[in-house]
Amino acid sequence: MNDRHKQFFAAALAALLFAGAAPAAGPALPADQRASLVLLDEERHLVLMEMRNFLAVLQTITDAITREDMKEIARAARSMGSGAANEIPPRTVAKLPEEFKVLAGGVHTTFDLMALDAESLADPKHTLVQMNELLQKCNACHGIYQIKVGRGASSRK
Ligand code: HEC
Repeated sequence: MNDRHKQFFAAALAALLFAGAAPAAGPALPADQRASLVLLDEERHLVLMEMRNFLAVLQTITDAITREDMKEIARAARSMGSGAANEIPPRTVAKLPEEFKVLAGGVHTTFDLMALDAESLADPKHTLVQMNELLQKCNACHGIYQIKVGRGASSRK
């Protein structure tokens, strides 16, 4: 173990001990400050299903990169592109703020580009660069929004 590792473990241990010593009714944990999208339970289910599909496709693409299988990369990326069937009904889309739709659109067009470039450039490293851009977009939106179940209109905190 080098010094940096030792420091890290000491800090981790201190955090654990501190957490253990905190009284049950201690200071409130920090609240989730992200803006709330208020959806019906079944709408939340659809959005989260799409999210899990995103993650599954990223896994498929990562695996295809390791095999330099450009055809599979193009196929998988296209399945999440802007031409892919949209599972979210218009009345649900109407509840989503414009900014959310712009961020989601950016993910779909990045998948489009990934598919096109996989076919024309056939460079796995380039796909990886696009994967990084894609993940930044996933993270950006996750930093802004959370989904709450309710009947009311979507509201920003
Ligand atoms: C336009 C906004 C947006 C984009 C872009 C986005 N997400 Fe999400 N994602 C969300 C929201 C909102 C949630 C629910 C978060 C919450 O309620 O805490 C979520 C949840 C998830 C979940 C949890 C699913 C579950 O079953 O609980 C996964 C996995 C996920 N996203 C993956 C991704 C991946 C991978 C990408 C990029 C390819 C991505 N998301 C892009 C908004 C987005």
